[in-house]
Amino acid sequence: MADPLLQVRALDAHYGDFQALFGVSMRVTEAEVVAVIGANGAGKSTLLKCIAGAMPVRHNAIQYHGVSIGGDPAHEVVSRGIALVPEGRRLFPDFTVEENLRIGAFNRADRPEVQRDIDDICEVFPILKERSRQLSRTLSGGEGQMLAIGRALLARPRLLLLDEPSVGLMPIAVSEIFKMIGKIPEAKAITVLLVEQNARKALAIADRAAVLELGRVVFQGDVDTVAADPRVKEAYLGG
Ligand SMILES: Nc1ncnc2c1ncn2[C@@H]1O[C@H](COP(=O)(O)OP(=O)(O)OP(=O)(O)O)[C@@H](O)[C@H]1O
Ligand SMILES: [Mg+2]
Repeated sequence: MADPLLQVRALDAHYGDFQALFGVSMRVTEAEVVAVIGANGAGKSTLLKCIAGAMPVRHNAIQYHGVSIGGDPAHEVVSRGIALVPEGRRLFPDFTVEENLRIGAFNRADRPEVQRDIDDICEVFPILKERSRQLSRTLSGGEGQMLAIGRALLARPRLLLLDEPSVGLMPIAVSEIFKMIGKIPEAKAITVLLVEQNARKALAIADRAAVLELGRVVFQGDVDTVAADPRVKEAYLGG
C-alpha cells in the first residue's frame, strides 16, 4: 500500500463542551479523490477544519507526509500545500474573476508560472476564461464554485479540501462541478478530499469514501464497496 499523503488518527474535536468528532481515523493517498459523506451535523466540516488548522487538535492526530500538522496554525498548513475551499465559497465580490484567481497566487513569486497556471485552470474550467473580466458577484452559483476551486488551485496545493461544492447549485451545475473535480487529480496531480451531502455525486468521482455519522466514521473503503453497502444505499443513496 502506498504511503498516505494524509493520515488522520483517532481524531477528537470539541466545540466547548460539545464533542463533534470521536476517534476519526482515515488516510488519503496521493492523487486520489476521497469522499466523506454524511448527514447535516455529522462533523464533515469539522473534520476539514481540523485538517486545515482551524481547530485545536491533539499532536499527531493529523499527519501530512508523515509529519504531525495537528494543531499547527492555518497559515502554516497552507504553506505546506493544503488548501481549503470552505462552505460558502468566500469570493471577493467586487473583484473580477481574473483578480479573484490572482488572489489565490498572492504568496507566489513565480509570475510567469502563475499565468501558465491560470491558463491551465481555464482549460479545466473554460467558463472562467469567458467570464474573466466579469465581477465575481455577478457569477451564477456554479460559476462561483468553479472560481473558488480555481482560486484554491492557484496556490498550487498538493491536497485540496473541498467542503460541499454542490451546495446551492442546480442539478446541472452540480454535475458540471463534479465532472471538473474528478479531473483535478489527473490534470494537476493534486489529491482531493471532498466532503459532501450529495453522496451519489461524490461517490461517482471518488476512489475511496468514508461515511461519517454523529462524529464517527462508521464505514470506509474503496468506493465500490461503500456504494454497494446496503446501509449506505438505504441511508445515503435513496435505497
Ligand atoms: N462553532 C461551533 N460551535 C458549537 N458547535 C458547533 C460549531 N460548529 C459546528 N458545531 C456542531 O458540530 C457538529 C458538526 O458540525 P459540522 O459543521 O462539522 O457538520 P457537517 O457534517 O459539516 O454538517 P453540514 O452537512 O450541515 O454542513 C454539529 O452538531 C454542529 O452543530
Ligand atoms: Mg458542513
